[in-house]
Amino acid sequence: MGVEGVRSASGSEEITAGRESRANLRQMLVIGVVSSIIGIALALAIDWFPVQASTQAEKIDTLYDVLLIFSVPVFVLVEVVVLYSVWRFRMKPGEELMDGPPIHGNTRLEIIWTAIPAILLVCLCSYAWITLTDIEDADASALNVRVVGEQFTWTFYYRGPDGRPVASPQLYVPVDRQINFTVQSKDVLHDFWVPAFRMKIDAVPGIDTHLRVNPTLRGTFPVVCAELCGLGHSVMRQDAHVVSKAAFDTWLRNRARGPAPRAGGGQQAGGGATAAQGKPVFNAAGCSACHTLADAKATGTVGPDLDTALKGKDEAFIRTSIVDPNAEIAKGYSANVMPPNFKQTLKPAELAALVKYLASVTKG
Ligand code: CUA
Repeated sequence: MGVEGVRSASGSEEITAGRESRANLRQMLVIGVVSSIIGIALALAIDWFPVQASTQAEKIDTLYDVLLIFSVPVFVLVEVVVLYSVWRFRMKPGEELMDGPPIHGNTRLEIIWTAIPAILLVCLCSYAWITLTDIEDADASALNVRVVGEQFTWTFYYRGPDGRPVASPQLYVPVDRQINFTVQSKDVLHDFWVPAFRMKIDAVPGIDTHLRVNPTLRGTFPVVCAELCGLGHSVMRQDAHVVSKAAFDTWLRNRARGPAPRAGGGQQAGGGATAAQGKPVFNAAGCSACHTLADAKATGTVGPDLDTALKGKDEAFIRTSIVDPNAEIAKGYSANVMPPNFKQTLKPAELAALVKYLASVTKG
């Protein structure tokens, strides 16, 4: 074989190599497109979030879906190239000392792989920014609610019909009206979060933070603390009740009225309370989240089992346990786990009824 023969052999090798690499590319492209479509379909089919209970939730979920649609192909592209290269160009026995030809860079490829992600990022950031200004849009007729976090409870303050503040351990808001939350903390960092609204913000000691939500769905949704704040962090959960405007107004009026605190004076306030009225208080105040109590079918284990801890105790002891939980700590439990502010968040009549109720069901 002469020189001619060698040249023609290497030429046909180049052509074969070129065809092979184009076939490889085509194969990779098909795998990439198919897995991207499957990936996007799967990602969109997964129910990532709880119900949408606010206009903000709808916008945030749409943003999330759009981000998924763009992120899945990028993820798939990187993974396909990595896995395909590992499989296709893996080292076979006997090739240990072989190395491919040195690469000197490819300007066109580098421009493409810098420009495409840059354009993608600018577009997605712009969209996210538009969504952010959209969900923070202030409505002049918003209802102001002050949220105060402390270890380990939330208290919600409203402006009562007579202008005086009204405190509540549960969050009540009217549907279809913007709520402007001012969030504060009495002690450490907490984070006010209603997953169904999708909005959350830190409660920072010493400063006010703000959050706007337009509830669109009537119902009861969890209020969660989303910042590790101490031993009782996981039980810092309450309820957000989204109700009709009429129901909200009635609730606020009743909450504001309460029994006249001075009538009968001090301890006597709410003297007419009965044990039967205490059971709903037990449930509404969130006692069942932490305590076990057979009569209320409560099975909480964060705090003492009330069936045994309060067995045979008198009303004075029970009252102190509620309003001053650190006065006497049940064996095996830590101080500062139970919220210390039930005296403020419960109305005197509610507290009196709760004490009567607990005394009656733990008589033994
Ligand atoms: Cu408050 Cu976690």
